[in-house]
Amino acid sequence: MTIECSKLETAYSNSLKRPILNGIDCKIKQGEFVALLGLNGAGKSTLLRSFVGLVPVKTGEIRINDTVLTPRTLRRIRRDIGLIFQGGGLIEQSSAIDNVLCGCLGGLNTWETLWGFPKQPRDRAFDLLADFGLKDLAYQKTGLLSGGQQQKVAIARALIQSPQILLADEPTTGLDVIAAQQVMQILDRLHREQGMTVVVVLHDLGMASTYPERAIVLDAGQIVYDGKCHNLSDKFSKLTHPKLEA
Ligand SMILES: Nc1ncnc2c1ncn2[C@@H]1O[C@H](COP(=O)(O)OP(=O)(O)OP(=O)(O)O)[C@@H](O)[C@H]1O
Ligand SMILES: [Mg+2]
Repeated sequence: MTIECSKLETAYSNSLKRPILNGIDCKIKQGEFVALLGLNGAGKSTLLRSFVGLVPVKTGEIRINDTVLTPRTLRRIRRDIGLIFQGGGLIEQSSAIDNVLCGCLGGLNTWETLWGFPKQPRDRAFDLLADFGLKDLAYQKTGLLSGGQQQKVAIARALIQSPQILLADEPTTGLDVIAAQQVMQILDRLHREQGMTVVVVLHDLGMASTYPERAIVLDAGQIVYDGKCHNLSDKFSKLTHPKLEA
């Protein structure tokens, strides 16, 4: 699936209505693996969240597979997009498998979940966890898992509905080198073996130059670089750091 933004401007209703994204134009092709980079506050999470209709669009538009995103089309398209939130967004008191199953709650009706999840999604959730080496931890409380294990649970949750687009907001932040590499390898595999369109927000320029094929660098809500993932630190030397607001 493709993602396309034209002249995209978004403003949160509570942030003095100033635009956070300011004229974003970009096209992400089917099966591409893209890193979204930029300093804190540049608008990376806002852009990612706008792809699933979580941010109000002020002007311009977002098209997913040539369909303009509107509250109506979103209901249809939403299932095809998996989102991993910054910080994971897991329910710590619930088991890993229940967290993964939460990813398909929207696709089931109330009756289907009243007496627990049906066998089919349960099996799929278990298979996904087993795939990521978490077979023995499937019934463990998520809050008791390590950061890397939690991140894998968050990926499994985003994958349970077999999306065609995967959006991951800082999935490697706070992880050790090995765990971070494992997470990036999982994303890389999804893009190479399943042709999934993967957009990942990263702060680690080393990771960005190793796995994704393309980097989009944001600065103060605008794209300042869009191209190959080399010499990325050069692109960063020119960025404006956000001022501290009193
Ligand atoms: N829910 C919100 N309501 C109002 N303003 C917001 C909201 N979320 C983000 N912002 C503002 O939008 C701007 C961009 O934030 P965003 O979270 O997109 O940045 P980011 O590039 O993801 O930063 P980081 O690297 O710190 O995660 C910031 O100035 C932030 O204060
Ligand atoms: Mg962010």
